[in-house]
Amino acid sequence: MYDMNVSTIHTIQNEGLLGSVGNTPLIPLRLLQVGAVEIFAKAEWHNPSGSVKDRPAAAILRAALESGELGGGRVLLDSTSGNMGIAYATLAASVGVSIHLTLPANAGESRKGILHAFGTKLTLTDPLEGSDGARRVAAALAAEQPDRYFYADQYSNPANWRAHFETTGPEILEDTGGKITHFVAGLGTTGTVVGTGRYLREAAPGVEIVAFQPDGPLHGLEGLKNLPSSDVPEIFDPLVPHQILEVSTEAAYAMARRLAREEGLLVGPSSAAAAVAASELAQRLDTGHIVTIFADSGLKYLDQAMWSET
Ligand SMILES: Cc1ncc(COP(=O)(O)O)c(C=O)c1O
Repeated sequence: MYDMNVSTIHTIQNEGLLGSVGNTPLIPLRLLQVGAVEIFAKAEWHNPSGSVKDRPAAAILRAALESGELGGGRVLLDSTSGNMGIAYATLAASVGVSIHLTLPANAGESRKGILHAFGTKLTLTDPLEGSDGARRVAAALAAEQPDRYFYADQYSNPANWRAHFETTGPEILEDTGGKITHFVAGLGTTGTVVGTGRYLREAAPGVEIVAFQPDGPLHGLEGLKNLPSSDVPEIFDPLVPHQILEVSTEAAYAMARRLAREEGLLVGPSSAAAAVAASELAQRLDTGHIVTIFADSGLKYLDQAMWSET
């Protein structure tokens, strides 16, 4: 069980790059407004490494530095589908910690290019086994050399969801002046939904927590998981979301083009999927103030098919 309540929240102190994570802008999505239902997106690419994953990466690093688990020159080891790796690479460099990541070999070239620029030690894993396979390889490396590595394991590390409990949730409540009625977010490690959802359930009990996932095992929504066909992350708590929607890759890609061309927002596929889920929810409401998360920008996905009509 978790041991935090709303009154224990503390603000992130100014600690260089680690202290510049969070406090991202909340943008109204004019395009998706339906009658009296408004939708807002938290623009997470404003974080130092360009995605929402700076929040858990900062929290995991800070917790491990404070507990001494990263002492004695230990290397931070984790698996990633890309963004968490870029967040670790950025923030770990800023505090002088070395990292080793496992990443599915079919991760986008721009992600691999960014990690290469940071000089990150990478082990590429079987593309057919996806993020679950990368996690199994990281666990095996950690078991082989326990003294060399601090195995961060974002799927089971409570600092992942706590980052959102301490930062994303309070920011959203403040940004909306308490007006939020629904929170919509995608499921990857599930840290965003679990942490933000737990915070909002405690601090604003009327808010409905709406999670979404890709509609099948094979999808193009990087960073997200179709839970029924995946290893379910240990930090996932099925009691947090009130409902779980499904989004197709095609609908998300079409939305990504609309957001770019009609709203001026160049976002990644999981953000576009969030807009689809929020928009579907909006059609069913008479009034509402929906907040969703735009996890990253479209800049890392320019080589993908989503920008062309099929
Ligand atoms: C682009 C993107 N969207 C969404 C998510 C899902 O967030 P979470 O891991 O908090 O469930 C991730 C996670 O890596 C991501 O990279």
